Amino acid sequence: MSVGRILAIETTCDETAAAVFTTEPRVLASIVSSQAKLHARFGGVVPEIAARAHLGQLLPIIDEALSRTETALDDLAAIAVAHTPGLIGAILVGLTAAKTLAATLRVPLIGVNHLEGHIYACQMAAGEEVFPCIGLVVSGGHTNLFRCSSASDFELVGCTTDDAAGEAFDKVASILGLGYPGGPAIEHAARTGDPKRHAFPRSFPSDAILDFSFSGLKTAVRYAVHGQNAKTSTRVLSEQELADLAASFQQAVLEVLVEKSFLALKRFGLGTLCVGGGVAANSAFRRMLEERAAAERVRLFVAPPDWCTDNAAMAAVAVEKYHAGRFDPLDLDAAAGLVRWRE
Ligand code: KG4
Ligand code: ZN
Repeated sequence: MSVGRILAIETTCDETAAAVFTTEPRVLASIVSSQAKLHARFGGVVPEIAARAHLGQLLPIIDEALSRTETALDDLAAIAVAHTPGLIGAILVGLTAAKTLAATLRVPLIGVNHLEGHIYACQMAAGEEVFPCIGLVVSGGHTNLFRCSSASDFELVGCTTDDAAGEAFDKVASILGLGYPGGPAIEHAARTGDPKRHAFPRSFPSDAILDFSFSGLKTAVRYAVHGQNAKTSTRVLSEQELADLAASFQQAVLEVLVEKSFLALKRFGLGTLCVGGGVAANSAFRRMLEERAAAERVRLFVAPPDWCTDNAAMAAVAVEKYHAGRFDPLDLDAAAGLVRWRE
């Protein structure tokens, strides 16, 4: 098989994205169109709106990725697509485009797991082997700890039992009137806040358990803002109150994420931690991880901020499958497949 380029498509949530990379792998272009503005007034992603917006955006985004890299359709050696997990209607848009391209160009289709992509983004950025490692994916839909033996051999060892970390950021931002997406808004508000002002709960169900829980924390913030009369309260927060609430909430989430990740490293005797997903773009989190990794002499790889939030470059994990000849049939299914312990 001739060595060519791979086009990757990502439409699992509210980013329409395409990337072109070589089979080395080297990312030549990564184009992302965010739908955040469309979903902002709902305080979260509306699946039907996401799917329809992908329909409108995907072909122009693919065209842009190809033209920016001067890639002709004939140069493509394979089409990669994130087919799980995510919003089923949204995934179907990208998957159908990918299958159509693979069938008409007569090149292999390679389905990739979005969560593996979030961890693989660390390897792509580092340019060195990161496996075996503990992989922490912290996004709007997932908070998962994986024991990663290789790029495609992931064992789930911990996950959230209720809200995902990013979801908690989004919900608390909505309580604080900060808009969507909540993560960047809370990070910004927290900069001038006191992280010790509110003693919000840290959920450590037990030292033996690597699971997470963030819904109690969200309720604690709601009570701190509105008291017990959450439904009727119209309290307006001062800028400093807002900053202190944001900083205290952020600190509570980040401490738990860091603590559990290092617990997982110890539990499985691993010395490398990879962190990806939207929440990993948070600079306070990155600093906290760096300090702890330095103190514990752990090799730490955090995806660069642009590759933390959803993108198609992280689908470069497809290159491993490409070299191994592990292709997918044209009836490859989309799978919502939220990764949870107990479905
Ligand atoms: O990985 P991602 O782009 O999409 C999913 O796969 O879900 O993650 C999006 C999530 C949102 O919940 C967003 O609020 C959060 O990542 N996020 C952040 C930051 N940037 C994005 N959370 C905390 N701090 C940030 N700077
Ligand atoms: Zn994601």
